[in-house]
Amino acid sequence: MSKHAHSDPGAEEMGGMDVALPGAESGLVEQPVSARARPIPRISIQAFCENAAMAEILQVAAEDRRLSKVHVAVHMGGIEAAVAHFQENPTPNLVIVESSLPRDHVLMELDRLSECCDPGTKVIVVGHVNDVVLYRDLLRRGVSEYLVDPTEPLQLMEAISNLYNNPETEPVGHVYAFVGAKGGVGSSTICHNAGWALSEQLKTNVVIADLDLAFGTTGLDFNQDPVQGIADALSSPDRLDEVLLDRLLTKCSEHLSIFAAPVVLDRDYDITVAGCDQVIDVVRQNVPYLAVDLPHTWTAWTKSVLVQADEVIITAAPDLANLRNAKSLVDLLRHARRNDNNPRLVMNMVNMPKRPEISVKEFETALDLKAISVIDFDAEVFGQAANNGQMIEELNPRAKSAAAFREIALDMTHRREAQPAKKSSPLAPLLEKLKIKL
Ligand SMILES: Nc1ncnc2c1ncn2[C@@H]1O[C@H](COP(=O)(O)OP(=O)(O)OP(=O)(O)O)[C@@H](O)[C@H]1O
Ligand SMILES: [Mg+2]
Repeated sequence: MSKHAHSDPGAEEMGGMDVALPGAESGLVEQPVSARARPIPRISIQAFCENAAMAEILQVAAEDRRLSKVHVAVHMGGIEAAVAHFQENPTPNLVIVESSLPRDHVLMELDRLSECCDPGTKVIVVGHVNDVVLYRDLLRRGVSEYLVDPTEPLQLMEAISNLYNNPETEPVGHVYAFVGAKGGVGSSTICHNAGWALSEQLKTNVVIADLDLAFGTTGLDFNQDPVQGIADALSSPDRLDEVLLDRLLTKCSEHLSIFAAPVVLDRDYDITVAGCDQVIDVVRQNVPYLAVDLPHTWTAWTKSVLVQADEVIITAAPDLANLRNAKSLVDLLRHARRNDNNPRLVMNMVNMPKRPEISVKEFETALDLKAISVIDFDAEVFGQAANNGQMIEELNPRAKSAAAFREIALDMTHRREAQPAKKSSPLAPLLEKLKIKL
């Protein structure tokens, strides 16, 4: 039996517990655990631990972005405490119990637990022995999952995510947030070209959401005259469903649609964290990939999109202000997303003639992050593409940057892994002076 055992779809139901059919994430290559553990819907979880270590793992998981909608209560006392509790109280969607009892004893206790569980409540058992007989007995009793001593919160989150995100019935899309370390560094250009490359390479649906409501360039870049799209969705997020979403999207190619910005200035745009979250959620439920083009502003909702996204792509140009801002962003995101990958760094507009620049290597050491792509300043190709309303690949598939966009798309989807860079930065004293703090 593997350390992380999936439940058997053929297992019978028993008592108040039902059997979940966890689905595997589809994709060309094995995804890292951080990508396999998907955001979990608004459910309630009650856990009954025996050891402080397990309670700690649950606590870390409860604070993770993937469980931000989930209500988690952690108690001590193992299965016995759970039985006592549910004799008096209603059961939540998911009960997690830790048990180090011998096999027969665990089964007996679980039988008692099932008597006080409502139908529909799922149960995950955390044990300390890799016992295949116990595992089978648990599945037969309708336990959804048996985990042997999960040492990482991500393992637990993956197990929960498998129970509630069955791709066959509830597809959950990946969200990639693009942000510039400074204004005008090419973040939108990279978001659009990488999103387009992703849709072409994987032949799968991608939506680009332009959250730069007043000045966004998504419509221009794809040569479209779109409906107001995203502003309508954001102004009444409760109304947004699959049908309305379809009406608000503008189709640019077989697999790419844009959620365009209105780009008019005679109205105010008051985006709320909750509204933005709700819109992204609806898109996520309907499309496999969503690229979010964020403006270079710092508000509660931009921060929330960055913290909640599956991957963050920071674009920086090679100067000091970009370095400082990129460092602040990377530090904040590392802190707020402890169980996630590092943000991805794209260095753009590099090697501009006559301009003194901070080298990519210096950026990488200062941020302790290897750039996934370094794109040269190329006024001719980028200027032409922007003015024609074309992607670089459409204008000139042999351009160096066209290859870079294909690689960024692969990186975002974990088809290539990013590396951390080591060694201390020669700019460390300078950064210290700039007092970059969280
Ligand atoms: N590598 C490059 N070489 C030359 N020009 C580039 C390059 N990358 C982007 N550009 C150009 O720079 C301009 C600004 O790009 P873009 O709008 O994508 O930046 P941004 O970071 O999204 O800006 P904003 O802060 O307004 O959102 C565009 O005209 C674009 O064509
Ligand atoms: Mg932009």
